[in-house]
Amino acid sequence: MGEVLLKVNNLKMVFQNKRSSFAAVEGLTFSVERGKTLGIVGESGSGKTMASLSVLGLLPNQGRVAEGEILFDGKNILELSEKEMQNLRGNEMAMIFQDPVMSLDQIYTVGDQIIEAILTHRKISKDEAKKRALALLEDVGIPNPERVYRSYPFELSGGMCQRVMIAVALSCNPKLLFADEPTTALDVTVQAQIMELLKKIQKEYDMGIVLITHDLGVVADVADDIVVMYAGKSMEIAPKEVIFNSPCHPYTHGLIRSIPQLDKKEERLYSIQGMVPDIRNFPPGCRFCTRCPLALDECREKEPPFIELNEKHFVRCHRAEEIAKGGLAHE
Ligand SMILES: Nc1ncnc2c1ncn2[C@@H]1O[C@H](COP(=O)(O)OP(=O)(O)OP(=O)(O)O)[C@@H](O)[C@H]1O
Ligand SMILES: [Mg+2]
Repeated sequence: MGEVLLKVNNLKMVFQNKRSSFAAVEGLTFSVERGKTLGIVGESGSGKTMASLSVLGLLPNQGRVAEGEILFDGKNILELSEKEMQNLRGNEMAMIFQDPVMSLDQIYTVGDQIIEAILTHRKISKDEAKKRALALLEDVGIPNPERVYRSYPFELSGGMCQRVMIAVALSCNPKLLFADEPTTALDVTVQAQIMELLKKIQKEYDMGIVLITHDLGVVADVADDIVVMYAGKSMEIAPKEVIFNSPCHPYTHGLIRSIPQLDKKEERLYSIQGMVPDIRNFPPGCRFCTRCPLALDECREKEPPFIELNEKHFVRCHRAEEIAKGGLAHE
């Protein structure tokens, strides 16, 4: 096993106000190694963004981490002060988001924004910062760095803006990059280019990446390990090949069947029946039981534990061992 950069243990993240309290993430455990990509996959509302904002210390007002441990480079970062967290975000962790155009400030040039990012972390001269900014723009594959440096975000395409956001993120030389749906707002060819770029810079910077997406197809190419989340819980964690070739959670199986495939002429694309349960009112037992083709009475009554099938494969399903032995056909 490589060097573990981030270890999240049994994370519970809750929203609380005077009237109600509910958990958006519960019992979440995963780790990210240096130079490796962890994909976090799940439907809308499954808690992917809240899990990553918990790690970054950027939860919205009424949200807080209620349980668990977040170890970054071995230190429990939940014990850090806001100032220390800011430092960590500036120097060791960075993030890029779904909407690159909105994430940039429209009234400043690209150059000014990268320089500002560089100068908040480093005491260097403005000239040196400019050189570094141009080098970063080149690093993220921008063909004419001088021109883009002087441009305003609204003058650039979505794909270009995402490259600029990646340059801003890289300005602090992070060890860990969170990419939350980084390509969802872009068209397909640009999506592929941005994923290629992430792979390239990961090698160059030897960075760990947490790639968040609702689309299992996106992580198929780039992730080393995958966490499948459903209704705030991790349902399955395994190396990518295991997730795709021998998934042991019926939800993972359904997600894989839902990926459109060019070579298969299925008449209709498969989709998992039913809807994600309301976060304020989960069913007793397994959270997936209302949609699961393999659910038994036990599944409706008792929450399944996170079963370790082997050192690298964990599944939250009462029937995981039967599925692993190949004894159960889906549907
Ligand atoms: N500010 C908030 N106050 C209350 N609940 C919130 C808030 N932000 C998010 N939630 C709830 O927390 C749950 C998890 O949300 P989260 O944004 O982490 O989901 P996600 O997996 O990132 O979804 P998506 O794919 O749509 O981005 C959702 O049920 C959401 O409605
Ligand atoms: Mg999200």
